[in-house]
Order: sequence, then structure tokens, then C-alpha cells
Amino acid sequence: MLSAQAIEKTAAGRVPRHIAIIMDGNGRWAAARRLPRAIGHRRGADAVRRAVEGCIAQGVSVLTLYAFSSENWKRPADEIEDLMALLRIYLEREIDELDRNQVRVRFIGDRGPFSEDLRALISEAESRTRGNGRLTLVIALNYGGRAEIVEACRRIARDVAEGRLDVEAIDEAALAARLHAPDLPDPDLVIRTSGEQRLSNFLLWQSAYAELLFLDLLWPDFDEATLAAAIAEYQSRERRFGGR
Ligand code: IPE
Ligand code: IPE
Ligand code: MG
Repeated sequence: MLSAQAIEKTAAGRVPRHIAIIMDGNGRWAAARRLPRAIGHRRGADAVRRAVEGCIAQGVSVLTLYAFSSENWKRPADEIEDLMALLRIYLEREIDELDRNQVRVRFIGDRGPFSEDLRALISEAESRTRGNGRLTLVIALNYGGRAEIVEACRRIARDVAEGRLDVEAIDEAALAARLHAPDLPDPDLVIRTSGEQRLSNFLLWQSAYAELLFLDLLWPDFDEATLAAAIAEYQSRERRFGGR
């Protein structure tokens, strides 16, 4: 029989180190209430706070949130404007609290197309929280998994062309080292809300062996109990990584 201490250790060991979430369903949440989509996105930002707090409470090390995909530019201009305004408000209002909670904030994706003031807020959030070690919050913004892999390939080609890398030395580690946040562990658990069962170009390389969890609830309804249930589901899965 396992001692109480050993059981506690086992349970602690099984908390996913890195959880990645496709936060989907804000529009449907609003539509169900005959509210504008912008309200759904605003409530989605409240759910972000609960997810962050839940991850801190559960001892998760990295939380990656898919906030805006490289394909989301296809949406109507007014919705994109609402999302950018919300992001600005989030960064302005939440950064103190995140910093106080020892959260390190990082961004993946191409920040090039964003306005200068938004890019400044992003850099400031990163530099201000750089020394924090309790939770790393990665915000995927104008992020696309394929674009990230293409960019890594381009870096490899450049390194080969300029004599820094041997063709024979190109391996998985060489490519992974050229992704946007190469120092972070791969996600153990990828959650998507809203009932859709697809990855929508999220962390394609990094999710190779992630456990996938598709939840029917809409993102604005996500709370700490949802997170706890997701972790419990993760703990019931058997990860094999191709072994037996
Ligand atoms: C997720 O909610 C937020 C973003 C993609 C930015 P949606 O806006 O996709 O909501 P649904 O899928 O239309 O319900
Ligand atoms: C994925 O949701 C992107 C984010 C959550 C930011 P979408 O709502 O854009 O995905 P699709 O269009 O349903 O695949
Ligand atoms: Mg959606």
C-alpha cells in the first residue's frame, strides 16, 4: 500500500506541467443571450482570469492561451477592433495583478501587424514580468502553427546557407530550437472549449503527444472547477508515447 505521502506525491506529479487552451465559443455564448459578440469576448477575458488563477492554485507551470489566430484576420473589421481593444484593456489592467501573482507573461505569434502602442504594451508586459517564476502565461497572438514551422525552416535554411549548421545536423531538436518559445516544455494537455473538435492551427509541432480534451462548454463559462475536472480527466489517461 502506498503511504499517504507517496500518494500525495503521485498526485502532484501528474498535474500537467503545461496546459494549452483553445478558448472558443465567445460568439455563441453571446448569441445564446442575444448579446453582441463583443460582450462574449469581454466575458471570455474574465474566464482568462479564472484560468490563470486556477493554474496557479493547481501548480501548473505553463499555461498557453490561443487568443487570436493568424486566420482570425478573416473576421469583420469591427470584431477585430473589439478584440484589439479588449487585448489593450487586458494588458493595461491585468499586468499589475499578474506581476503580483508572480506570473511571467510571454507572447508567441507574429506581433508585426499590431499597432505600435499594442506592441509596446506587449513588450512591456514581457519585460516587467521576466523575473517571475510561479506560472508562465503564454499568449498566442496572431499565431499559426504552420507559419511557426515555416519560420523555423527559414531559420534553418539561413543557418545552413551561412555555414552555421550542417545539413546532416538538422533533426527534431534543431527545428524545435527555432520555434517561438523553444525553452518551454511541450503541452501535456490541450483543451478546446465550445464542442468543436479541431486544432485550428494551434501548436501543431508541440502537441504531437499532448492529451486532447474537447469540452462542450463555451469559453466564457470556463472556471476553476472546469480546470480541476480537466486535470482529473488528464490524470485518468495513460500516456504511452509510442511505448507499451
Ligand atoms: C473565441 O470565440 C475567440 C476568438 C477566436 C478570438 P469565437 O469568437 O470564435 O466564438 P464562436 O466560435 O463564434 O462561438
Ligand atoms: C480558434 O478559434 C482560434 C482561437 C480560439 C483564438 P476559431 O473560432 O477561430 O476556430 P475555427 O474557425 O472554428 O476553426
Ligand atoms: Mg470560434
